[in-house]
Parts: sequence; C-alpha cells; structure tokens
Amino acid sequence: MTAELEAAVRHSLASVIDPEIRRPVTELDMISDVIVDEAGAASVGLKLTIVGCPAADTIERDVREATARVAGVTDVAVTVTIMSRAERDALTEKLRKGRPKTMQFGPDSLTQIVAVTSGKGGVGKSTLTANLAVSLAQTGARVGVIDADVFGFSIPGLLGLHGAKPTQVGEMILPPVAYDVKVISIGMFVEDNTAVSWRGPMLHRTIQQFLTDVFFGDLDVLLIDLPPGTGDVAISLGQLLPHSDVVVVTTPQSAAADVAERSGIVARQTGQRVIGVIENMAGLPQPDGSVLELFGSGGGADAAAKLSTPEEPVTVLASIPLSIALREGGDVGVPVVIAAPEDPAAQAIRALAATLTSYKRSIAGRKLGIHTR
Ligand SMILES: Nc1ncnc2c1ncn2[C@@H]1O[C@H](COP(=O)(O)OP(=O)(O)OP(=O)(O)O)[C@@H](O)[C@H]1O
Ligand SMILES: [Mg+2]
Repeated sequence: MTAELEAAVRHSLASVIDPEIRRPVTELDMISDVIVDEAGAASVGLKLTIVGCPAADTIERDVREATARVAGVTDVAVTVTIMSRAERDALTEKLRKGRPKTMQFGPDSLTQIVAVTSGKGGVGKSTLTANLAVSLAQTGARVGVIDADVFGFSIPGLLGLHGAKPTQVGEMILPPVAYDVKVISIGMFVEDNTAVSWRGPMLHRTIQQFLTDVFFGDLDVLLIDLPPGTGDVAISLGQLLPHSDVVVVTTPQSAAADVAERSGIVARQTGQRVIGVIENMAGLPQPDGSVLELFGSGGGADAAAKLSTPEEPVTVLASIPLSIALREGGDVGVPVVIAAPEDPAAQAIRALAATLTSYKRSIAGRKLGIHTR
C-alpha cells in the first residue's frame, strides 16, 4: 500500500517543473527520496541545484502541493538539501545529453536561428526582436533570445527583466525567462549601466560563451539582436553561426535602404542567408483617415531590391507601423504584443512571426560562404 502511494507521489511530482531549467524535477534528479508511512504521512527529499536558488520557494511549494494532492496522503514534509558538486556535474552532463561542451546551435541543430541586423542604429531591431520572440512563444514555439548588442544591450529592459541575474549551475548558465522566452544579455552580468568597452576578441568570446555555456535546451527559434552596422559582433556571429538566417530592419526612408544593403552583404560573406527585410516605423494612421509617413515610404522595398540576387531574392517580410503603444511597451518592459495585442503594430508583428516560422532553414541550395579568418 505505501509502495503504491510512493509511486503515486512520484507520478504527481513529475508535474513540478523547475522554473529555470524548465524540466520536471523528477527528470532533473531533484527528488532524492519519497517515503510514505502507514498513516499516509509523506516525506519528500528535494535537492536544489545551488545554494540560494532563486526559484527555491516556488519549487518547494510546488513539490508540497503535488504531494498533498495525491489521494491517501495525509501529511507532507519536504526536506530541502543542496546537490553535491558531483550531482550537479552529473545533471549538467545529463542536460547536455552527453554532448561535449561545444556550441549548442551547430550546423546540425534543428533550431531556426534568426539574426536581426540593420545598417543604421535606432531603427527598432531590439524592440522588434523582443516582440517577435514573445509573439513566437505565444504560438507555442520554444524561443530564446541572445542580446548580442554588448555595448548597447537593451533586451532585458524591453522584456521587463530589470536586474534579472542568470543562475549558474556548475558550468552551466541558466537564462532568465520572460513571457516564456529564454533571454541572455551581457546586461545581466554587469552592474547597472556600467559601460562595456571591450574590443573585438572579448566580444567574440562573449558571443561564443553565450552559445556554449548558456543552457537554452531545445529551442524552435533563437533570435539574435545585433548591434547596428557591420562591426565585430556581426562578423563574429557570422563566423560562429554561418547557418543562421538574417533579417534586415530598415525604416521607410530611402537613404536607410542603402545602409541596410551593407549589413546584408556582410552576412552573405559568412554564408548566412538573408531571408528578408522588415520595414519599421512605417506610416501611422491618423484619426482623420490619413496616414502620417514620418519617415517617408518605400525604404523596405528598396532595401529588399538592393539585397536581392538572382539566386536569392529578398522580400519585405513585414511593414510595422509607427506605434506609440509599441514604444511605450518597450519603455515599461511589457511588449506591445502582450500589453495591446490589437494595436496595428502588434498585429503586424504577429503576422511576421507566422511568416518567419515558414522560413525553415534549408541547407540544400545554400551557397557556401567565404569564411573570413
Ligand atoms: N514602430 C515603432 N513605432 C514607434 N517607436 C518605435 C518603433 N520601433 C521602435 N521604436 C522606438 O525607437 C527607438 C529605437 O528602437 P530600438 O532600440 O528597438 O532600435 P535598435 O535598432 O535596436 O537601436 P540600436 O541600433 O541602438 O540597437 C525606441 O525608443 C523604440 O521604442
Ligand atoms: Mg538595439
């Protein structure tokens, strides 16, 4: 009888998900033992990965509730301990599925990797990356975001992750989660507003470390928010992830299209595929029915035409209107797709998310890039 109850408790505990690793605690070897006595009193051993685990209270509460839910259990005692170094290492190993410590998103990965670039700064890359990520997660996709803008990181703020710090388990860094999106940014490792002033090699190492040490688990889509222009980070990323897709963000202004073209050319040189242009800050509909075209029009189509080659035609994937709600959502860390889903910009972003996932990465037909040193 007690053996049956113990099995039932374990079964129920499988519904407890570690909020950071996002797997059942039973799968993570976090339940050391389950004992139920004749009177129905259950005692459960819970092993946390690290001391001061930020999710400790949540996990303990969930374990208690899942145990108490089992019919026949009359009392619950949870004993919390911390994994030993060896146990933590074993867990890290298990999560890596025995793979050596290498880049998680290698050429054989099934994750669609989309780098968001632009020629000019301030065109809305980060705002769109954050919203697109949340929008994709809302459709049920497993989504991660890497903020590769080391000097000008803004993704944590846009997703309401002010002050969030990643948890470290052994050698593994667990990315904070916002709106079901796993997020990593250098902003989570520096003190408030500290300027990061690294040169190329350090930038390269940071991006590499994000791809190696940060445990994203299996993802459907990984979005990468790049700094503007064609600097060190864009080149490093192209070298580390030559199989990633690139979208180029531009404003409707015709001058912007010329600069946009350059970021696409650099991407292609490393073998990345330019899958399209996103025109942002397009016309804002006015109450009188007219459209305020603050930044002109046609820039997206222009950039797409300039980026197109006979083998790889590039289209405008979306035109996102100017939107006060979109800007405000960024300011307060609640993306517009959550805060005001009916806003025209939110609708356009949702449509973009649907379009993006239809661009499954295909290796066949891809030109091999010229790899720079
Ligand atoms: N469609 C839009 N309507 C209104 N404001 C927008 C829109 N898109 C972006 N913004 C605003 O424009 C500013 C710049 O956006 P964002 O930081 O996302 O650009 P960026 O391309 O990532 O900039 P950087 O090159 O500095 O990284 C932000 O204040 C943002 O709120
Ligand atoms: Mg940005």
